[in-house]
Amino acid sequence: MTRPAILVARAVFPEVVSRLRQHFDVEDNPTDTIFTPAQLIQRLQGKQGAFTTGSERIGAELLAACPQLRVVSNMAVGYNNFDVEALTSRGVLATNTPDVLTETTADFGFALMMATARRMAESEQYLRRGEWTKWAYDMFTGSDIHGSTLGILGMGRIGQGIARRGALGFGMRVIYHNRSRLPAETEAAVGARYVDKATLLAQADHLVLVLPYTAENHHVIGAVELAAMKPTATLTNIARGGIVDDAALAQALRDRRIAAAGLDVFEGEPALNPALLTVPNVVLTPHIASASIATRRAMADLAADNLIAALTGGVPPTPINPAVLPLRT
Ligand code: GLV
Repeated sequence: MTRPAILVARAVFPEVVSRLRQHFDVEDNPTDTIFTPAQLIQRLQGKQGAFTTGSERIGAELLAACPQLRVVSNMAVGYNNFDVEALTSRGVLATNTPDVLTETTADFGFALMMATARRMAESEQYLRRGEWTKWAYDMFTGSDIHGSTLGILGMGRIGQGIARRGALGFGMRVIYHNRSRLPAETEAAVGARYVDKATLLAQADHLVLVLPYTAENHHVIGAVELAAMKPTATLTNIARGGIVDDAALAQALRDRRIAAAGLDVFEGEPALNPALLTVPNVVLTPHIASASIATRRAMADLAADNLIAALTGGVPPTPINPAVLPLRT
């Protein structure tokens, strides 16, 4: 019997590629070339599986051009790079990597919020420029985390992890808004209280965004929402570019409409709105919220587990559209 063929679309841990080679004919990408949509289609010819990251767009056009494809396995929890409706209608399984990155990503969201509130990037740059000549009572004074109000927009697994850290570790008052309200016992366990979006914006001292990117969530935070926040508030986005209107945010930061922002994700990344580079009160990181060594390895392993199970008659651990199972052969 011929072995299934797969494409590993980006460079990943060599150990994980070796494991995939035990089951599949693997075309990998150790030089980490970013394929154009046409190159991706070409590489996927004759492949039943694809190991992807958030950088590869899998839409109707690609699926029509790659009729042998049976499964796309994203090494990410977010999957806005997938057209799930198109995948499902073609009977192609999509999988992602939830759970394994929850705590690491919550750690990072909390760290970015703290770095933003306490002006760590701005003060480090000042020090590196050699401008630190004396102590001053008001040098880089920021806002407190402990005892303040933490607002969370989007209350899935990562949002709940951030809520727990704030409520239990830092004595924060935690409020959240989400499409659906959590059960009362979950709210109690994570120490968070449900509020409407207007209350969240008005009351949060530190607002953290942890919601998935969908057409509905495009620019959920724009000029109007920023104007509704406290002028002393911080905004942290570890969710996806496009959820925040980055141009409006840069303007709000410049005008001190809000105090500061921490951004790990950007509209059009890895490019970013150049205005964000010209405002001092923003901490910028290159989409690394899940990037601990252990967690990136766990994500790669789970993405491999999904591919192996899907193409060898097993049960994929984390399917996005399980309705397509069992896969056609
Ligand atoms: C990272 O952004 C992910 O979705 O895993």
